[in-house]
Amino acid sequence: MLGPTPDRGDLLYRYEHSLRAAENAAVVAEAEGLPKDDLIIACLLHDVGYRECRDDFRRHPFFSADISKSYLEKIGYPPEALREMVKGIALHNLTDDLPKDMTVFQISVRDCDDIDRFDMIRTAMLLGDCVNEKTNQEIIASCSQAIDSANWIMSLPRGTRTAQDMINENCRKRIALLQDILAQANKGL
Ligand SMILES: [Fe+2]
Ligand SMILES: [Fe+2]
Repeated sequence: MLGPTPDRGDLLYRYEHSLRAAENAAVVAEAEGLPKDDLIIACLLHDVGYRECRDDFRRHPFFSADISKSYLEKIGYPPEALREMVKGIALHNLTDDLPKDMTVFQISVRDCDDIDRFDMIRTAMLLGDCVNEKTNQEIIASCSQAIDSANWIMSLPRGTRTAQDMINENCRKRIALLQDILAQANKGL
């Protein structure tokens, strides 16, 4: 589903992101005693709906959940684990408004996705956007906004301490780089 095609070069990026989310899942599951294979597989599948949702990317978790459910049923995955995995995939885009009955496992699918969304590759992408052909004034505005957003991500509820620590580490590295850029832009005013 995430194989690259000439019309969708972004899918190879999505595939590699899914592998990194699955690596995060192995670390979180191991440290927190969560079902490791289930969390790894849920993370591998969490963005599989991107091809189906065309331009409305906000809907991709629902497509991912549908595709994953059919696939896991087809290979005879244990139903209880399947339900948890599909629910976690369907809700992986939620930020601060988590349903009361969302389990630690379900939240962990979204946490492992977020850890990668704030890793060095995504930080490099963001830094490029913050500075590319921008004036000092514009750089100050974009970097300040990115720092606020990283601080907000660190303040969100997480399923486990391990995920929180991993996200905090990535966000702090990102904020430190943004602050260095801010300092240079401020000097140039
Ligand atoms: Fe996603
Ligand atoms: Fe993702």
